[in-house]
Amino acid sequence: MGKNLSIVTISFLLLLAFTSAGQVFDVKSYGGKPNADITQALTKAWKAACAVAGSKVVISAGTYKLGVVTLLGPCKGAIEFNLQGTLQAPSNVASFNGKDFWVSFQRIDSLTVSGGGVFDGKGQMAWQNNNCAKKYSCKTLPINIRFDFVTNSIVRNIKSKDSKFFHINVMGCKNLQIQHVTITAPGDSPNTDGIHIGRSSKITITNANIGTGDDCISIGDGTQDVTANQVTCGPGHGISIGSLGRYQNEQPVSGIRVIGSTLSNTQNGVRIKTWPSSPPGSAFDMHFENIIMNNVANPILIDQGYCPNSQCSNKSPSKVKISNVSFKNIRGTSSTKEAMKLICSNSVPCQQVVVADIDLVYKGAGGSTTSTCVNVKPTVSGKQNPPACTRKQY
Ligand SMILES: *[C@@H]1O[C@H](CO)[C@@H](O)[C@H](O)[C@H]1NC(C)=O
Repeated sequence: MGKNLSIVTISFLLLLAFTSAGQVFDVKSYGGKPNADITQALTKAWKAACAVAGSKVVISAGTYKLGVVTLLGPCKGAIEFNLQGTLQAPSNVASFNGKDFWVSFQRIDSLTVSGGGVFDGKGQMAWQNNNCAKKYSCKTLPINIRFDFVTNSIVRNIKSKDSKFFHINVMGCKNLQIQHVTITAPGDSPNTDGIHIGRSSKITITNANIGTGDDCISIGDGTQDVTANQVTCGPGHGISIGSLGRYQNEQPVSGIRVIGSTLSNTQNGVRIKTWPSSPPGSAFDMHFENIIMNNVANPILIDQGYCPNSQCSNKSPSKVKISNVSFKNIRGTSSTKEAMKLICSNSVPCQQVVVADIDLVYKGAGGSTTSTCVNVKPTVSGKQNPPACTRKQY
């Protein structure tokens, strides 16, 4: 009797699981219409979908206005956010009520974001009033898309455009794949980092196409196991680990791989940056391989005196220890003569740095590229253009 009952119960649950798989929650059914504000409709559709396992929120083709939304889990099971249309953020920062995001996915397991649609952050007005370059603590501006504590999830085939601040921010996430995302903003738009990852692990970024006004990808403290593969970057400030050491209690960074990417007309190529006068910290097991540089200003860079706009105290060196770093098979053109700069801290010199098969040609007239090594003795092999450590200080 007990056994039969449990079989019936299980069959019923299975049936429920099957019939609800792929259940669609279209914002249209919640009053969402093109060219109108769908904040309420999306909030309702999400809530309903989240209460069902294997559901899908759909925003079909068309342009929609959307205010600040938090798409909150945990949900009953896997959930898909399928954006086919274009979402437009409010232009005015005041309408964000001090929130640091526009669209936030929070505390969700098994999320898929897909559909080929666009998150248009309408950042032009906010960029004009951005004071982050002048002030150490600037006013918080909204990030286009936040992923906070999202696990075992996929973000694929979406576009983020003209964010007021970072485009995509990944925080506290585990096992997240980001595939085929396109990110665009003007080269002079301030702080519009493409993808920023912090305090997360097992993150992969593949086939991303990022052109923006700040770092294409930046990796902050407490991050382990990130692979960026086939990323196209430019304009922008390049692919960065850091900045690290700005704040107290930062956690180590490790297990970072940047492979098979192309950077064009960027301010930097691949770099690791830490602030001077920092608390102790560490970054290790970081590898950059098979990368093409086209007219890049600082193709290979370790900068342990990172101090943009002289916002920091230069009194003591950085205490963030950098070790186990490799730069392998990095080729193309540099827009400055000093194509490789490894400027490590004299308080904690860099350890286990490998430089192999580098061929960076100066794009300007007259002369070949040079390199600088400070507080680092790299192990070099293969082609070395520029010759390793043409200028050194230890
Ligand atoms: C150094 O890097 C290699 C290559 O990725 C990795 O296998 C090794 O675990 C790293 N060691 C440390 C101490 O980070």
